[in-house]
Amino acid sequence: MSTKKLWGGRFQAQAETWVDEFGASISFDQLMADEDIEGSLAHVKMLKKTKILNESDSNQIIAGLENVRKELHEGKLEFTVENEDIHMNIESILTDEIGPVAGKLHTGRSRNDQVATDFHLYVKNRLPKIVEEIQTIQKTLVELAENNVETIMPGYTHLQHAQPISYGHYLMAYYSMFKRDVERFQFNMKHADISPLGAAALAGTTFPIDREFTAKELGFADVYSNSLDAVSDRDFALEFLSNASILMMHLSRFCEEISMWVSYEFNYLELSDKYTTGSSIMPQKKNPDMAELIRGKSGRVYGHLLGLLSTMKSLPLAYNKDLQEDKEGTFDTVKTLLPALRVFNGMISTLNVKKDNMRHATENDFSNATELADYLATKGIPFREAHGIVGQLVLKGLENHQNLQDITMDEFKKISPLIEDDVYEVLKPEIAVERRNSLGGTGFASVRKQIKDAKAELNAVVSE
Ligand code: ARG
Repeated sequence: MSTKKLWGGRFQAQAETWVDEFGASISFDQLMADEDIEGSLAHVKMLKKTKILNESDSNQIIAGLENVRKELHEGKLEFTVENEDIHMNIESILTDEIGPVAGKLHTGRSRNDQVATDFHLYVKNRLPKIVEEIQTIQKTLVELAENNVETIMPGYTHLQHAQPISYGHYLMAYYSMFKRDVERFQFNMKHADISPLGAAALAGTTFPIDREFTAKELGFADVYSNSLDAVSDRDFALEFLSNASILMMHLSRFCEEISMWVSYEFNYLELSDKYTTGSSIMPQKKNPDMAELIRGKSGRVYGHLLGLLSTMKSLPLAYNKDLQEDKEGTFDTVKTLLPALRVFNGMISTLNVKKDNMRHATENDFSNATELADYLATKGIPFREAHGIVGQLVLKGLENHQNLQDITMDEFKKISPLIEDDVYEVLKPEIAVERRNSLGGTGFASVRKQIKDAKAELNAVVSE
C-alpha cells in the first residue's frame, strides 16, 4: 500500500497533519506560483522539443498548465498542506484537471532544481523594480540638492559642529550611496540570472534534455555549469539580502538625521503632515513615525540576511530541506523594501528645509576655526602652530562668550601682525563653504558639478 503523496510509493504510513504542517512551505511559497508555472511550461516545451515526450502528451500538459495559470490569476486555485509546497500543489491540481498524463511533466527534473529555478526567477523579476525605486529617490535628491547648493549648515563629525557645509552637498552624499546601491542590485542580477533547471535532483539526468532551451524560454542569461552547485547554493539570495541590508542602512542613517533635524533642538527640517503622525495624548506632537519606521525596519532586513547566512552555514551539498528556510526572509525583504523606498521618497520630496535655521546654527559656533588656522597657514605660520594658536583662541572665546569673528583687529594683531582685515571675510560660513572646491568638496562649484554629473547619469538611465 502506498500513501496518497506524489512521492508516496515507498511509504506505508502517513504523517500526521501537524507533522505535514511543520514540513510544508505552501503557506508562503505560493508567492512563487507564477514562477512555478512558468518554469513548468518551459520544461514541458523542452521535453516536447527534444522528443522526450510526444506531441500529444506535451500539448495536453501545456494546455493544462496554461489553464492552471488562468485559474491562479482568477484566484480560483486552492492549495493544501498535504501537497506540501507550491510545486506539488500545482502538479496535483494539474493531475486533477488533465489526468495521469500530468505525471509526465516531472520527467528529467526534480523539485530541487524546480524550487531553485522558481526562486531565481522570483529574485530576478523583482530586482528591476527595486532599482527603479532607488533611482526615483536619486532624482528627488538631485532636485532637492539643486535648490540647496547655497544652503549653509553645520557639517558634523562625532555629532559636533565641525565645518560649515552646503546642505546640497549633504544630499549628494546620499545620492552617491544610492548610486552604489543601484550598482549592487544590478550586479546581483548577474547571479540571479542563471538557470538551475535541468540540474535535476543533484546529478543531472540521463534524459537528453536541453538546458539552454529552458534557460532561453525563461529569459535566463546563463545556465549553471554544475548541477550540485545549481541546486544547493543560494548565494544570489544572500547577495540580495546583503544589498538590501546595505540599502536599508543608508536609508536608516538619513532617517535618523531627519528624526533629529525635525526636533525642537535642531529645527532644520519640517516633514509634511502627510508623512507624520500625532500623539493620542499630547496635542502638540508631530512625530516623524515614517522615518523612524524605515530606520526600525532595517533591523528585520539585517535579521533576514543573518538568518539565511546561518541556515546555509555548514550545509553539506547538495539539497537539504534547510534550504526551504531561504524564502520567507527574502519575500519579507521585498515586502519591506518597496514600500520603505516609496515612503522615503514621498517624505523627502515634501520636506520643508528651514534654510535660515541651518545657516543660523553656523553663526554662534566655532565651525570656522579651521578657516582661521588655514588663513594663518597661508600667511606662512606652520599649520600645527596655527592649529595651536586657534585652539587657544577658542578656549578664550568659550570663556568670554566670544566667537572668532568677534575678535577685534587689535586683538588679532597681537596674535600675528600678518592677520589683516580680509580675515573677517574668510571667517564667514558661506565663504568657508564656497572656497572648498577641492575635488568632491562642499564648495558651491563642486556641488554644482556633482549635480551636473548626477543628472547626466540619471538621463543615461532614462535613455538606456
Ligand atoms: N519546498 C521545498 C523547498 O522550498 C522544495 C524542494 C523540496 N525538495 C525535497 N527534496 N524535499 O526547498
